[in-house]
Amino acid sequence: MATEPIIKAQDMAYPRLQVPDLDQMEAFLADFGMVRAERRSNVLFMRGDGPAPYTHVIHQGEPAFLGFALSVSSQADLDSLAASPGFAPVEAIDAPGGGWKTSSVDLDGNLVEAVFGIAPVDPLSDLSARALNMGNDFQRIGALQRIKSGPSRIKRFGHLALNVTDVLGAVAWYSQRFGLLQSDRVNIAPGQPGAIFARCDRGSEPADHHSVLFASAMGAGGIAGLNHLSWEVCDIDDVHVGREFLRSKDRTPEWGIGRHLLGSQVFDYWRDPWGHIHEHWTDGDQLDASAPAGDHPIGLGRISQWGPDMPQTFGRTIAPQS
Ligand SMILES: [Fe+2]
Repeated sequence: MATEPIIKAQDMAYPRLQVPDLDQMEAFLADFGMVRAERRSNVLFMRGDGPAPYTHVIHQGEPAFLGFALSVSSQADLDSLAASPGFAPVEAIDAPGGGWKTSSVDLDGNLVEAVFGIAPVDPLSDLSARALNMGNDFQRIGALQRIKSGPSRIKRFGHLALNVTDVLGAVAWYSQRFGLLQSDRVNIAPGQPGAIFARCDRGSEPADHHSVLFASAMGAGGIAGLNHLSWEVCDIDDVHVGREFLRSKDRTPEWGIGRHLLGSQVFDYWRDPWGHIHEHWTDGDQLDASAPAGDHPIGLGRISQWGPDMPQTFGRTIAPQS
């Protein structure tokens, strides 16, 4: 019987990466669709078009995945976490938009922050999907479709995938602390998941099919760490024009464009100059807390509904935390 979690996280906030050259990273992320929110001597804050003051935090140093932040509902939630074993005291966030945080370290050594009260900023665009004339729903009458070329319009940081030493242990750790729910399990054998897709529990409000994907590090060369980071873009044209733009800048493609099976997103993956995988996606499944978890045997067939096969290089840990 599952016990009540300490709190129920509501969404993802940002990841933290570390790379040796912030200028090169800023140039890559600009091609990917982000703009500088703030640059300090040893840390870079990048944002998308949405209301979050930043959606990616990059520190200067040896290449590494440092961790990520989940947003919570209230100051009281931060206090509840901070009162729990393994969490730091609540402190002010020294970053654009301020706010408050506590943090802990998960079973594989990743920093996990919980944040609240980060002040939103004005969106840089209206974040609307383009009107389409398809099926029985013609949304664009008397107006021409003209897609401006350029980087994707990034709406928000949506999810990440971790390669973990112990899938069930990791899911239990996050579920007990942050209330994550299981959306789909990919099983090596019954009761032995090789990957679990987990979402936020917002009660009757829908949430992304997954905020965190816990994948067995066995499938990633045995090294725990980052599998990939993922940002939601505004629509399918953004996935395509974003791809064209990254190609025009000679960036390194990884996998795409396709539509996932579990989560259903239309996806496209690119590598930063140090190999960390950054994903664009749109049109993912939305589930409320009542949706039961699905069980799927590993090797259930193609893992995409359409699109190219997954490359062998995909999801292997690039920069384990040192
Ligand atoms: Fe993803």
